[in-house]
Amino acid sequence: MKLVFSTLLILAAIAIVSAQNCKLSAGGKNYDFSKLANSTSWSVQDASKATYFFNICQTASKCTTINPQCSSCQQGPTDTQPKADCGHTNAIVKALSNGVAGGVITYTGGSTCKSGTIVRSTEIQMMCTNGATQILSATEVSTCTYTIKLNSNLACATGSSTGSTTGKSTTSGSGTTSGSGTDGSSAEPSKKKGGIGGGWIFVIILLVSATVYIAVGIIINFKVRGLRGAEMFPNHSFWVEFPGLMKDGVLFIKGKVTGSGGQSSYQQV
Ligand SMILES: *[C@@H]1O[C@H](CO)[C@@H](O)[C@H](O)[C@H]1NC(C)=O
Repeated sequence: MKLVFSTLLILAAIAIVSAQNCKLSAGGKNYDFSKLANSTSWSVQDASKATYFFNICQTASKCTTINPQCSSCQQGPTDTQPKADCGHTNAIVKALSNGVAGGVITYTGGSTCKSGTIVRSTEIQMMCTNGATQILSATEVSTCTYTIKLNSNLACATGSSTGSTTGKSTTSGSGTTSGSGTDGSSAEPSKKKGGIGGGWIFVIILLVSATVYIAVGIIINFKVRGLRGAEMFPNHSFWVEFPGLMKDGVLFIKGKVTGSGGQSSYQQV
């Protein structure tokens, strides 16, 4: 029972940390592409005048009529043609392969084409540039596989542009960064501080919860239960055992992953 609890605790922590949708850490920079979402759908035409509607990190409102999970769809040059589902919501982003600042999001699992042999998919390359979002192009790079390119300041690393929650950190005078001359990319990375990310919000919530838990626990133990000294600490006996439980949990998961060494943990259940 204790083993199950400690395992769940660790798994929950891992899940919370990794469930940062549409965020990317690459090259020492943190990106959050959810700012590129467009509730009315982005759109762009390709060379053959087909129109692509899409959204970033979310479903596209102009595509959900074909499939509620559709994030990218294509419509032929005349409106009467039906839209094709070009891929579904997926908040996993990767770094751009050419090392340019920005990221790539890929939508897979669209409708099939070529007699069901190919599943439509869309790759959206988001390049960090100065200025507002500009949809550059849409191309069918191979049959039923589409690539859309866009430039945007919203595709840049977070902390360098805004940081909606005005942190208390004293932002150093920005006037001194004169990194011009070289390849634009050197201008931004010096500032690691900025808005509070999801990870920090989690840490803050954890700290506040822990403080409240300890404070309330001590008061109850002191006043209601009449405990004194170290016993006043809430769930005292549990926390004394806690380091052991954490170790069991880690060993258990390690055993599961490596397929070895989990035996001692099983016996304790
Ligand atoms: C959403 O996309 C459309 C079509 O590309 C564009 O005209 C519009 O400005 C975008 N909306 C926002 C809020 O950026």
